Amino acid sequence: MLVLGIETSCDETGLALFDSRRGLLADALYSQVEVHADYGGVVPELAARDHLRKTVPLLRQMLSSAGANLAQLDGIAYTEGPGLIGALLVGASISQALALALDIPALGIHHMEGHLLAPMLEEQAPEFPFVALLVSGGHTMLVLVQSVGDYEVLGETLDDAAGEAFDKTAKLLGLPYPGGPELARLAQSGNADRFQFPRPMTDRPGLEFSFSGLKTHTRKLCQTEDGDHQTRADIAAGFELAVVDTLAIKCRRAMQSSGCDQLVIAGGVGANQSLRSKLAQLGQKQGWQVSYPRPEFCTDNGAMIAFAGCQRLQAGQSGDLSINARPRWSLELLETL
Ligand code: KG4
Ligand code: ZN
Repeated sequence: MLVLGIETSCDETGLALFDSRRGLLADALYSQVEVHADYGGVVPELAARDHLRKTVPLLRQMLSSAGANLAQLDGIAYTEGPGLIGALLVGASISQALALALDIPALGIHHMEGHLLAPMLEEQAPEFPFVALLVSGGHTMLVLVQSVGDYEVLGETLDDAAGEAFDKTAKLLGLPYPGGPELARLAQSGNADRFQFPRPMTDRPGLEFSFSGLKTHTRKLCQTEDGDHQTRADIAAGFELAVVDTLAIKCRRAMQSSGCDQLVIAGGVGANQSLRSKLAQLGQKQGWQVSYPRPEFCTDNGAMIAFAGCQRLQAGQSGDLSINARPRWSLELLETL
């Protein structure tokens, strides 16, 4: 079964072709970074318009470089939510129009399910059950995954998502959008021990997160310390280590309470090298298998949507022709395969 995946939930147009027998055949990504850079963050209206401009030309380009054509498709998977409503509607509308024209099903996919299953695109794929640490710009959660669609949220953030905290802290440090990777780059030349940062909510039981205090802590530091390059790098390194430590502590708790021995890291912050190496080290010590997607499949992409869609379409699910977009959508409401 050959499935086209279309991701347009935020500021990246992601497309991919996934085949149930041959695996990932093609993927293409167009990032809107330049569109939003002047504004210091994503402008929803501009995001929607840019998806509208770019999706079809990018699809043509991807199909021709893969030597494929629309007639070969057996189904389409698009991101139905959560995300920016205007951006989601572009992907949903294009998918449904193609599905109608080609007489094939188009299925709406939960963006976080895409992230969560993305490590399965890799050779060292995790096996069910596993605990997933989902860390993106909009979400931070620990999920117990029994099978495709069987998701129990063990804990999530009470305020900012981890990626959001990276982005806001980067802004305080005068770094351009998108802040997360920029902050990580600056942190490489910093001394993480110079400034003490809290590890929020690790002094009490539970799997909830809270990252807004770290941002406030950084703001105060920026007000009292010199703004020279080394100081900013030291603040960035201290902040990054605090986030990574906090995530690692909660992962250990989730692994202990669930009894799982497999941990999956996914979502944009999963591309962070400090987080990846910290959890790989911890996994080695604890005897867990730790899996994560290649960095470009941690951040938003079409491959994860094509893969999730292929699993569901193969299991017999099919969408109707209605154009659905859900800005908010609980992961626990999904149908179990
Ligand atoms: O999954 P994603 O691409 O989009 C959402 O679904 O939100 O995640 C984007 C988030 C942004 O907040 C971005 O700053 C963060 O992931 N991010 C990083 C890194 N790469 C992306 N944060 C820290 N270190 C990175 N290397
Ligand atoms: Zn995402």
